Amino acid sequence: MNTIKVKDLDFTVSIPREEIQKRVAELARQISKDMEGKNPLFVAVLNGSFVFAADLIRGVDTPCEITFIRLASYVGTESSGNVQELMGLKEDISGRSVVVVEDIIDSGLTMKGLIDSLKKQNPAEIRIASLLVKPGNMKVELDIPYCCFRIPNDFIVGYGLDYDGFGRNLADIYTVVK
Ligand code: IMP
Ligand code: MG
Repeated sequence: MNTIKVKDLDFTVSIPREEIQKRVAELARQISKDMEGKNPLFVAVLNGSFVFAADLIRGVDTPCEITFIRLASYVGTESSGNVQELMGLKEDISGRSVVVVEDIIDSGLTMKGLIDSLKKQNPAEIRIASLLVKPGNMKVELDIPYCCFRIPNDFIVGYGLDYDGFGRNLADIYTVVK
């Protein structure tokens, strides 16, 4: 098994880059079809979603906008459940079709908090696009129409996702070796 080290932990490839690119392109085509003529606003959640958002939006072929918000809830390899807004939304989203772009939905608490707060601004609709979902960890009900991969509960890094700030630059997705 080929392993790499990120800080003090060993990781091995679980989703190779080719597979990621293929799924992201498929998702972008689906979103383009569903959002045609709606001028959607993509709201990407920093930091983790920046790589996914960049690839996703380049696959979208209907007029659209993208903006970024910054949230944080993770400490080390555990979700703190306590979501902090570090950089808020400046755009007016009332009456708009919003696609929230996330790297991963784990407990779902971050996304639930975000969706509830965006809904107060009366968008026409809000849809979730998440690169990854860990269904086994979800603590809240969420409708996730766009998801590239459903994965087990193990901790992962790469393709934008980090372990204490490191590993975001990796082109593949890696799972921790236990
Ligand atoms: P949630 O609130 O528990 O759903 O946590 C979501 C956030 O935690 C995501 O936006 C990620 O930034 C981070 N996160 C969750 N699981 C992982 C993981 O396996 N690796 C790296 N970050 C993760
Ligand atoms: Mg995130």
